[in-house]
Amino acid sequence: MPHYTCAGRIPSKRHIQFRQPSGQHYHEEVFGTEGFAGPTSTLYHLHPPTQVAAWKPLRSAAPEFIESNILRMRHLRTHARPAGGDPIDGRAVLFGNSDVLISHCAPTEGMDYHYRNGQGDECLFIEQGSGQLHTSFGTVEYRQHDLVVIPRGTTYRMVPDRLESPLSPAHPYGRFLCIETVNGSHILPPPRYLAKKTSQFLEHAPYCERDIRTPIAPEPNEALGSHEVRIKAMNWIHTYEFPNHPLDVVGWDGCLYPFAFNVHDFAPIVGALHMPPPIHQVFESHNMVICAFCPRILDFHPQAVRVPYNHFNIDSDEVMFYVEGTYTARKGIDKGSMTLHPHGIAHGPHPGTLDGTLSQHATDELAIMCDTFQPLVPAKAALEMDDTHYPESWHAASRERIRDLAGV
Ligand SMILES: [Fe+2]
Repeated sequence: MPHYTCAGRIPSKRHIQFRQPSGQHYHEEVFGTEGFAGPTSTLYHLHPPTQVAAWKPLRSAAPEFIESNILRMRHLRTHARPAGGDPIDGRAVLFGNSDVLISHCAPTEGMDYHYRNGQGDECLFIEQGSGQLHTSFGTVEYRQHDLVVIPRGTTYRMVPDRLESPLSPAHPYGRFLCIETVNGSHILPPPRYLAKKTSQFLEHAPYCERDIRTPIAPEPNEALGSHEVRIKAMNWIHTYEFPNHPLDVVGWDGCLYPFAFNVHDFAPIVGALHMPPPIHQVFESHNMVICAFCPRILDFHPQAVRVPYNHFNIDSDEVMFYVEGTYTARKGIDKGSMTLHPHGIAHGPHPGTLDGTLSQHATDELAIMCDTFQPLVPAKAALEMDDTHYPESWHAASRERIRDLAGV
């Protein structure tokens, strides 16, 4: 995040001696981006973060892409995917390209190790569930419908709460999506929301600093002994063994840290006539935007068309994840549906949905959109939940069927 934050104990100046009660030095670590020219934080460890006991390659993390030469609209029923694995190895890539990977996870196990994504920022969307993200910067408490942003290189362990009312008994720890950069760029608010000189959120931004939940002050773990950190880099997971607990930070300050933002804190921007998708934007990275379509009043011009206009994805692919409420512009979808509308084909509301929405004045829809500016390719896991009939719902001959689905 761009705004300065400070937590725990730090010395009065950077790069000066800073001693523990025992008289030993704390170990300063500058955690920075863009070769010391981008957002940076400075952390103070009990032990040198550089010392390593052992390491070895563990497994490939390269996604298995399929159907890379087939252009079609897709609909994945993510709730059909069996739960399994922990919050890291339970992730399955659904779509990806050379900028971003979009994964789904429904964990059934905890993590007995820490994790560090060394090749990209992560943005987790918590579809259902809550828990703690224990990081070098302290703990980020997360809850349902949070977007949790984890900068590249952050060491963390995700501890989901066991749910009292899971979506199904087989999903005791809920579900989340992971949107992950693979092009070295960072997931940040759009620059147009921020003051050029101070990076403060401007008045027209749909959220601000007060909505950003920063880590609770770190409590350094003094434990020694073998501690595993699995590091993702170069599309491989390596296991690194450290001689001390990886979360041994007593304090830090700076502008680079994990945080949570709940999409219900997003203040939708509405208008007399249809407002374009960028007004729903929350974050972006190079060649990718993340938007939240939240409950809001609909367009209020007396002759307003209350579903989006058709639009041509000349430059982008649209992934929409339907979370809650009634999404009036698309039919045949359900909670947990994920649609892909690729470049090269115009898209918009399903034919036949316009008239049925003219009398509506508000929508309760909640959907997360990820638009990419390079084509997305499905991965093997996407086929396992693929609704192969979805393209037919856009067939001209199926217009009557859509009218039936829409109830108009
Ligand atoms: Fe679109």
